[in-house]
Amino acid sequence: MRLFRHRRWLALAGCAIGVLSARGAGLLVHDAAPGRAISPTMWGAFFEDINFGGDGGLYAELIKNRGFEFPDPLMGWNQLHPSLAQGDVTVRTDEPFDAANPHYAEIVSTAKAPLGLANGGFRGIGLRATETYDLSSYVRVRSGHPDLIVRLYSHDGSVLAETHLSDATANWSKLGARLAPSEDDEHAWLAFLVVGPGVVDVDFVSLFPTHTWKGRPGGLRADLVQALDDLHPGFLRFPGGCIVEGSVLPRRYQWKNTIGPVERRKVLVDRWNYEFLHRPTPDYFQSFGLGFYEYFQLCEDLGAQPLPVVNCGMACQFNSGELCPPDQISHYVQDALDLVEFANGAPDTPWGRRRAELGHPAPFGMRFLGVGNEQWGQDYFIRFEQFSRVFKQRHPEITLVAAAGPQPDGPLFRAAWANLPGLGAGLMDEHCYAAADWFFDQTHRYDHYSRSGPGVFMGEYAAQSVAIASPLNRNTLQGALAEAAYMTGLEHNSDVVRMASYAPLMAQKDAWQWTPDLIWFDNLSVVRTPDYYVQELFARNRGDEELACDLSDLTASQARRFYVAAARDTGHHQLILKIVNATDQVIPAMIRSDRHPDLQLLSSIGLRGDGPNAENNFVHPHDVEPRPLAEPVGNGGAVPVPAHSLVVLRLALEGS
Ligand code: AHR
Repeated sequence: MRLFRHRRWLALAGCAIGVLSARGAGLLVHDAAPGRAISPTMWGAFFEDINFGGDGGLYAELIKNRGFEFPDPLMGWNQLHPSLAQGDVTVRTDEPFDAANPHYAEIVSTAKAPLGLANGGFRGIGLRATETYDLSSYVRVRSGHPDLIVRLYSHDGSVLAETHLSDATANWSKLGARLAPSEDDEHAWLAFLVVGPGVVDVDFVSLFPTHTWKGRPGGLRADLVQALDDLHPGFLRFPGGCIVEGSVLPRRYQWKNTIGPVERRKVLVDRWNYEFLHRPTPDYFQSFGLGFYEYFQLCEDLGAQPLPVVNCGMACQFNSGELCPPDQISHYVQDALDLVEFANGAPDTPWGRRRAELGHPAPFGMRFLGVGNEQWGQDYFIRFEQFSRVFKQRHPEITLVAAAGPQPDGPLFRAAWANLPGLGAGLMDEHCYAAADWFFDQTHRYDHYSRSGPGVFMGEYAAQSVAIASPLNRNTLQGALAEAAYMTGLEHNSDVVRMASYAPLMAQKDAWQWTPDLIWFDNLSVVRTPDYYVQELFARNRGDEELACDLSDLTASQARRFYVAAARDTGHHQLILKIVNATDQVIPAMIRSDRHPDLQLLSSIGLRGDGPNAENNFVHPHDVEPRPLAEPVGNGGAVPVPAHSLVVLRLALEGS
């Protein structure tokens, strides 16, 4: 069998980056027999509000502590005092506009000079001159007839936009205006000013870009959701992560507190506020503006299966490990049952009605539920068993995802695998943060897993360039290739591994706690990492059947760092090859099929960079990104796989 029949594919000499190896790789794809099915949910995304990924990130609100409900009600706000003799700002709770949002700011002005409050957003407010911004605020004028002005200032103090709120009355009313900044600014700030004597109450000051994802008022940041959409995730796991557990149970994530009017969603400290002493973020709180309704809606937008995770009556075992009393586990189970009803129930059920009232009468089609995040041990098994028993009766259609502990091996991991399959786990959620070499060396990890037990959800993984969660970790090409190599192993075992997602997903440039991360952003721009492109390439080139593929002719050192996954795209009658070359040599790959004598190359994409340490950053965001291979076929019809690259080939399967 030959590589490519058509001579036009032959004799394109040359190589890309690196030294051309004298030896090549023989790739024999076994596509004569049917392969293992690859689940449509194979490659997905895991979102957690860490690194300002939610508030300050995906949720497009630009004002931090808009409702004055942080424990320090004026956190995020600066008082703009010409002098104390001319007035003051105090926090009050009497007669709020809504008892669920009790704190508000009272601005007492005794002079003509402007007096008020300034908010610097989440490490600055990002504004674009090409966009407009929707301001809203609850206001009550208790005395006087002051002028109320809202201004957007640039980082260096020039006015970018201004509006007068002229309709305020003696009763609370929600006022709004659309603002059009005159210039771009990544670190703008907002001022709410009272000009002239009077007493003014202010609450829930909010500013959103008019242009959000799908134009939803008060919605999500369009560029960040676009990055998610481009990933083509088969599922979305949410809302965490450790924030599901909370450091103590009162700080756990409770989905029922995250739906309905945003003004009534109770603010909660984010666990990542204080978790890492080396990256304290004292102003990190969850407004829940991005709540469970928005998560389900996002899943629908992305065409991703929702995979919500609920607390199972255990706080984070790295923190307090607080347990709910055994007789209260049923409350947690009930919360989960109500969640299924909220997602899937008919509009005449209590929680289905809530969903319909929020604007979505049709069910969201939830099929998976995570029970706990990184739990372990007997207390977890007891809790999981209760969930499982009830769900088997009430919702056998829901696959329960059980935690396999915080590490991919060791006693906790083994105990999880020894106990949870027998307790009804449908999928085991494995987590792994490790050095690149771990991923390179674990491509056969699932070859020997039982084919009759629960499937695997590789729920969190990422190559760490220095150490787990070290602040020095970088999103290097080497790490991304290690993940890609590992993913070839996941795909080979697609009958066991049903889902996989990188973690964490997003990080704000100036407010992160954990690195590396898949997507970095600041107030105006988004940087997709090499790891991002690996995920994207795998998801966009998933195929639906995994095919066995023999590698031959490599030297021993080449073979240690050269990987391939083959899949059939049945609908398009194509063969998809994902080839990882983590060596420093260009390796020509001679591709053959055991069924199709004629393999016609349709497309060839390469992800590569200037060596293994290459990365993307805010100055050079495009250094490492997928590009068509300049010379897809070299001497003798072999595909030259560049050094330090992931190459994705699509070939037409003809002549069967
Ligand atoms: O992804 C960051 C954290 O890592 C998650 O919240 C947790 O599940 C894991 O420990």
